[in-house]
Amino acid sequence: MSEQELKPIATREEIKILVDSFYDKVKLDSLIGPIFNDTAKVNWDEHLPRLYNFWEDLLLGTNNYNGRPFPPHISLNLKMEHFERWLQLFFITVDENFIGLKAEEAKSRALRIAKNFSVNLGLSKF
Ligand code: HEM
Repeated sequence: MSEQELKPIATREEIKILVDSFYDKVKLDSLIGPIFNDTAKVNWDEHLPRLYNFWEDLLLGTNNYNGRPFPPHISLNLKMEHFERWLQLFFITVDENFIGLKAEEAKSRALRIAKNFSVNLGLSKF
């Protein structure tokens, strides 16, 4: 996408573009794609709407996510390199599609949550 087409994240439409483009990359990634497709056998028709709500709630304050993000990650045997790849793909997706404060916030929230998850899984002290 050329630079003129970069948009702010302002509505659920942009949240959907963010989440869909991110998981399009995740599914094809040789390191973390198989965790979703083979280990967890994710039902994408169920997972994606949950992720729309999660990110819409975080970035736009819609209060429409009431799940618990951490538990599904406990049994996946995740390693630090998985979180690093997840974050790399997420940052690329944000920067390819969006500009502005919410775009920066999306990246900083993702980084903070990834750090929390990795500390809770005993992978990192930070
Ligand atoms: C290596 C990194 C990660 C992997 C492999 C991974 C994988 C998964 C899997 C397999 C699920 C369960 C999906 C299902 O059964 O439908 C899930 C759920 C979820 N993940 Fe991740 N994840 C990772 C990192 C993250 C990060 C960093 C975040 C947040 C910034 C996140 C947010 C979520 C949320 C919100 C859910 C849904 C929880 C619920 O309400 O049930 N994940 N993830």
